[in-house]
Amino acid sequence: MKPANQATWEDSASTDVVSREEHIAPAPRVSVQAFCETVETAAAIQAAGQDRRLAKAHLRIQMGGLTAAVEAYQSSPTPNVIILESENRSDEILAGLDRLATFCDPGTRVVIIGRLNDVMLYRELVRRGVSDYLISPIGTLQVVRAICGLFSAPDAKPVGRIIAVIGAKGGVGASTVAHNVGFALARDLMLDSVVTDLDLAFGTAGLDFNQDPPQGIAEAVFSPDRIDTAFIDRLLAKCTEHLSLLAAPATLERVYDFGADAFDAIFDSLRTTMPCVVLDVPHQWTGWSKQTLIGADDILIVAAPDLANLRNTKNLYDLLKATRPNDRRPLYCLNQVGVPKRPEIKASDFAKALEAEPVAIIPFEPQVFGAAANNGQMIAEISSNHRAAEMFRELAQRLTGRAEPKKQRSGLLLPLIDKLLQRQA
Ligand SMILES: Nc1ncnc2c1ncn2[C@@H]1O[C@H](COP(=O)(O)OP(=O)(O)O)[C@@H](O)[C@H]1O
Ligand SMILES: [Mg+2]
Repeated sequence: MKPANQATWEDSASTDVVSREEHIAPAPRVSVQAFCETVETAAAIQAAGQDRRLAKAHLRIQMGGLTAAVEAYQSSPTPNVIILESENRSDEILAGLDRLATFCDPGTRVVIIGRLNDVMLYRELVRRGVSDYLISPIGTLQVVRAICGLFSAPDAKPVGRIIAVIGAKGGVGASTVAHNVGFALARDLMLDSVVTDLDLAFGTAGLDFNQDPPQGIAEAVFSPDRIDTAFIDRLLAKCTEHLSLLAAPATLERVYDFGADAFDAIFDSLRTTMPCVVLDVPHQWTGWSKQTLIGADDILIVAAPDLANLRNTKNLYDLLKATRPNDRRPLYCLNQVGVPKRPEIKASDFAKALEAEPVAIIPFEPQVFGAAANNGQMIAEISSNHRAAEMFRELAQRLTGRAEPKKQRSGLLLPLIDKLLQRQA
């Protein structure tokens, strides 16, 4: 068994949605086998297996608890992670673990789920190299957290948040919103941010920030073997003190057909050095664009107020809610609202269809938006007091949780042993 250097312990009453302060890094391609004793625990682990952060992990669940595990591993190698549920008394759990230890590969991590809230038991589990102890009943997200926590390298922090912005239709101003929000994150919230243009053929981030870097995201996506933070850093163009750009080539010599996880390594690398990664996702539905949205920490859908936008926003919204049951809901904003003489669908109708209010209603202002686009400037640079500039600041705050009261989380990542000592004191 692997020694418990990262052991954590937390109350079983967990929240069911990840808070903004918390980032659960996705687990790598590891094998996880769970031996449960109760159907409730099996169901929670089963649901955890559906979470986006465990998409790469191979999860197998069976009943029978410790006894079944001991039986199973006598004749077969142990996986990366074993989750064991035991309703037994402490001494029986420890005896079972000792038997299991004789078959356990050195790299295998063990997570125990038990009913007992017993300090002596925790101690003995730690001594035996158990990585985590969860008290039942357990929640889905607790399982996700426990598994992912085993593989997130402590030196990979701080981890950035990925904010994906997509339009419900082409031309609705999704890129404009993404760039202006990125600008506000950097200038007003002073968060180091990178705007990443994923529209490789036609992206406008370079134009909008008046930058023409010789290299950009294409270098990375076409040479996946070279991706590391130093390599990605060299591809970034600096726009302002806190804002960088990973630009699209916007050339047509090559075609841009990518596999579903083509950008994953780039995002992982960006988030190790940048607190905010704003993804300008083009309006298309491909394996990678879908995966990019599902994998993001937050999603902002930009819609213009017409029927096709309403339908598409609803479809995107519903799909993303369903595929991300343990995450915050996507956000959406309306843009280009109030085009003279144009009949429009009202914000209240959007709110009714989506059962959520838009986070911003940005007016159609051709003069200032047109000037910004043609000058390679942001709205706030043209007119800092403009109401659209104010809205982008508010959106930046909203997307980083600055506009919400901070939830207190008590020592979530305190090592198990510290927690024990605290409890005894
Ligand atoms: N609120 C607005 N008022 C007026 N024009 C806008 C507004 N938002 C965006 N635009 C303009 O709409 C055009 C399309 O914007 P863009 O951001 O490229 O859309 P998308 O990325 O959704 O295809 C651009 O010319 C942009 O300047
Ligand atoms: Mg765009």
